[in-house]
This record gives sequence, structure tokens and C-alpha cells, in this order.
Amino acid sequence: MNEAVQTSSTFTPRVFSGIQPSGGLTLGNYLGAMKRFVDMQEAGPHETVFCMVDLHAITVWQDPAKLQRATRELCAGFIAAGIDPKKSILFNQSAVAEHTQLAWIFNCVARMGWMQRMTQWKDKAGKNQQNASLGLLAYPALMAADILVYHATHVPVGEDQKQHLELTRDVAIKFNHDYDVDFFPVTEPVIEGAATRVMSLRDGSKKMSKSDPSDASRINMTDDADTIAKKIRKAKTDPEGLPSEAKGLEDRPEARNLVNIYAGLSEQSVEQVLADVGGKQFSEFKPMLSELAVEKLAPISTEMARLMQDQAEIDKILALGAGQAREIAAPILKKTYEIVGMVGA
Ligand code: TYM
Repeated sequence: MNEAVQTSSTFTPRVFSGIQPSGGLTLGNYLGAMKRFVDMQEAGPHETVFCMVDLHAITVWQDPAKLQRATRELCAGFIAAGIDPKKSILFNQSAVAEHTQLAWIFNCVARMGWMQRMTQWKDKAGKNQQNASLGLLAYPALMAADILVYHATHVPVGEDQKQHLELTRDVAIKFNHDYDVDFFPVTEPVIEGAATRVMSLRDGSKKMSKSDPSDASRINMTDDADTIAKKIRKAKTDPEGLPSEAKGLEDRPEARNLVNIYAGLSEQSVEQVLADVGGKQFSEFKPMLSELAVEKLAPISTEMARLMQDQAEIDKILALGAGQAREIAAPILKKTYEIVGMVGA
């Protein structure tokens, strides 16, 4: 152990997570992430830090005016869903320069091979990798920096981020090993609940995503009641009725998805839901799901629209959050620079 560097092997539990402001929020973002952020905020006593990752968003082209609007809208979404800026730190990534400063160090710790193995890189870069941005390849190193610049110990995410969190652990382990310190925590992914992977309403083998060209494939947090009901009515299903046990959903991805969504929205387990709805046909279950979705989502979208009326208030909340975030991040970055050997850190 390097004597000059004071480090600790015990880390205070701290929760961090981020969402990209790259278009609207979907039901997948809500159930897989935001709703669970609120649960963790309320569970306490740990600090909770949530971020609009605008620098991640620009790894693919974003229209500047739309990016600004999406960032503020996402902030409104966080608050409308229940994130309280008095209880959690809420800010946008680019406002805290320590993220990118640490990301550079991590670019030098992480290996090319790690990045090239990421399924999201392969999916997003597609066949034309030579033409993808360098940022898209380095994306997971910035994500590791987002988390580790707060020494965050717990990161709630949906299933699709699991591989990136494994890479974050690898970065922390390699940094600690290379510099012979015990400085960065090996973060725990928190991927829990019935709806960690909400699927497309049109194809149960594809993730529900804001980038899917078909709007009918997803429920947007800004959809009105009629749109939600119509999308659920048209959601792909199979001809069978609902089973009474989870085992009966195997090999029925569309049915499983709708049951998972119901479970996530009603805060029940899949088993509890099936105990109630087992034996019903989709013609009966879909209206139940629509009603529940509208009941849970309508107040959020109404509140988002209200908050969006007052841009100055949103900007004030973001500035406050950025200040609080910097207070945690700055000393951790300074220490990192010292460990790495930067003069004047
Ligand atoms: P992003 O913006 O794609 O998604 C934000 C969160 O929503 C979850 N999610 C889903 N969960 C369940 N079902 C779905 N269909 C679904 N779609 C999205 C995601 O898993 C995620 O938790 N790289 C991240 C953002 C990020 C980040 C971080 C996350 C940047 N830095 C640090 C955690 C910690 C991303 O692109 O998420």
C-alpha cells in the first residue's frame, strides 16, 4: 500500500444513477429506474445522487435546442415521479466537470478490448463502427466516472445496464490494483423488481426503448390516457389466457411483459398478480392494465407539464444540485489526481 495516500476500505453507502436526456422518458425508464430511485430515496439513510447524463446523450447526434429541452424535461420527470431535491442531489452531468476529468483517467485505465466487448457499443455502432463517435466507444468509462467520482456503492438500473456496471467494477479494481490503493469502491448493481427489463409492446423479444421507430412499441411518460389505453389494447399477445403461476409465462414473452408491467405498476410480485388474474383472457386483463397505467402515470405527466412551465425554477434546482454534487466530487477527484501523480492536484 502506498503510504503517502490515505485511503479507506470502508465506504459509506451512497446511491448514484443516471438517465440520458435523449428524447422522452418511457415506461421502461420509469419502472426500471426512476420509480426505484424514489424507493431508495425514501428508504434512506444513505445519500441519493441522480443525474441527467447530457454528455452521454451526445455520443450520438443531438440537436442542441432539443437536448436542452430534454434535459429540463427529464429534471421535471424526476421531480414529478417523486425525487425531492431536498432529499436527493439532482443535477446535469455537464455542470460538474469532475465527471469528465475522472473519465479521462479511466480512459487510461480501461482497455480497448473491454469497450469493444460491450453489447451496447456493438448495437449502437452497428456495422459501421469506423464511423461511430469515439465517445460512443468510451461511453462506459464516463459512466464509471459518474459513479466512482461519488464513491457510490449502489447503482439502481435496469437489466440493460448490467454489463456497464460490471465494467465499472473492473475499472475500480484495476485502478486500485495499478496504483496499489484501496480508493474506489467496487460498486453493487441494484437490479431488482418485476420490471427490470420492460419489453416492446409490439415485440416481446425487444427492449422498450425511446429510440424504437415505432411509437406504438412504448408507453411514453407524456402519453395521455387515450393513447396509453390504445397502445395497451393493441399490444401484441398470444391467444391463450393468463396462467395462475409464473411458470406458465415461460416462452410467452408478450404475456410475461404485460404481467411484469402490471406487477411493477401495482408494486406486487408476479406471483401475487397471477393469483388475482390467472384464468382471465387478455380482453379482460388489458383494460385492467390500462386503468392501472393511467392511474399511476397521468399524475406524473400532468406534474411534468406543470413544472415545465417554470424553466427558471428547474434551472435553479439543477444549479443547486450541481453545487452539492461538486462538494462530494471535487475532493475525490483531487485525491485521484494525487494518487496518479499529477503535480498541483
Ligand atoms: P438510459 O438513459 O438508457 O436509461 C435510464 C435507465 O432506465 C433503464 N431502462 C429500462 N429499464 C427497464 N426496462 C426498459 N425497457 C428500460 N429502458 C431503460 C436503464 O437500465 C437505466 O437504468 N448508460 C445509462 C445512463 C448512465 C448511468 C450512469 C446509469 C450514465 N451514467 C451511471 C447509472 C449510473 C443509460 O444510457 O441509461
